[in-house]
This record gives sequence, structure tokens and C-alpha cells, in this order.
Amino acid sequence: AKVGVLISGRGSNMAALLYAARHPSCPYEIVLVAANDPDAAGLTLAAAEGVATFGQNHKGLKRAEFDAIIDAQLRKAGAEYVALAGYMRLLSPEFVSGWEGRMLNIHPSLLPKYKGLDTHQKALDAGDSHAGCSVHIVTAELDDGPVLGQTEVAILPGDTADSLAARILIAEHQLYSRTLADFVTRERQPEWLLNKVRERAL
Ligand code: GRF
Repeated sequence: AKVGVLISGRGSNMAALLYAARHPSCPYEIVLVAANDPDAAGLTLAAAEGVATFGQNHKGLKRAEFDAIIDAQLRKAGAEYVALAGYMRLLSPEFVSGWEGRMLNIHPSLLPKYKGLDTHQKALDAGDSHAGCSVHIVTAELDDGPVLGQTEVAILPGDTADSLAARILIAEHQLYSRTLADFVTRERQPEWLLNKVRERAL
């Protein structure tokens, strides 16, 4: 399965997806890494690994216009799926519906808890014993959509938002590649997937 990855910055999740794809039994390959910032560090890494990249600043363009540019790049690269990996832009409804059931995101919380930003601080402030990360199918609502996989990470005494984020990030790297691989394998049965998405039963 051909996957396009969208990033905005460092791209460590993208790198984890890419390295996992090197294993001969991995059912997906990364065909494009695109960013809404031409200076995103992850683009340099992807290019050094021999992956096609595209970077363009979204500033000055309407959301739907910019998303149409990204969409065209993904289609040109032959992407069948999109993996959001630290992509810090809301997506237009047109883009989301164009990739319905074929776009995943990783979020650093145990969804449905703590959508949006500052998830680690929110978990600390709430006094939670565990935080974690989730991979979900992208729908029109931010950090919503059926959850495909989660990993719990313990909150330790003395944790700060930064120390917790660093520990969760390691779990993210494991979870995302595994969940994406499972997803593209199961998705070979389209009726099964579409029914699950409709029922929100994944
Ligand atoms: C990750 O924590 C991801 O869960 C969140 O943004 C961060 C991106 O980090 N959505 P990276 O660019 O993958 O290193």
C-alpha cells in the first residue's frame, strides 16, 4: 500500500513509519513526505532517505486552496492512504472527505481525552496515573474519529510536560507503524472497513 505522510516539523513519527517500512514484510511504503513548511526538519531527513518530498508554506493561501495543492501532490505520488504525523494544520472538509476512511492521525493522548494542544500538561493537571497516545481515522472534527490503536504510558512522580512527552513519543513511534500496517492489511477488505467506519465501531 502506498502512503503519503504529512508533517509540519521534526518528523520523528514520519521517520518511525519510514524505518518500519524498510522491513521486507511491511505492507506499506512511503511514497511522499509533504510539509506546510519548506524548512521542516523532517523533509531533510526524508530526502536523505531517498523519499520524494514536497514543502510549501501555506501562508497567503486559503485553506482549501492549499489543501488542493497537497492533495494533487499526494495523488501524483500514487498515495492510497495519508498518515498525519505532527501535521499542525486543520484540514479543509474537501480534503478530509477526499481521503475518507484512508487518512490516519497520531495524537499524544488517550483519546477521547485531551483533544487539541497541550495534552501532556492536561494529563498532569488532571492528576491522571496514565497518559498515552492514540492512532485514529481522521474525520471532520479535530482529533475525533474511530480509534484504531492506543498505548498507555505511566505518569511518573516528578514528570513534567516535557519528560512525559518524551516518554510518550517513544510509544508513538511503535504504535503508529504497527497500527498503519494492520490498517492497510485489513483495508484490503473494503466492505469490512466501511461498515466499521460508519458504525464508528473500530
Ligand atoms: C507528536 O507528539 C504527535 O503525536 C503530535 O505532534 C508530535 C509530532 O512529533 N501530533 P514528530 O514531528 O512526529 O516528531
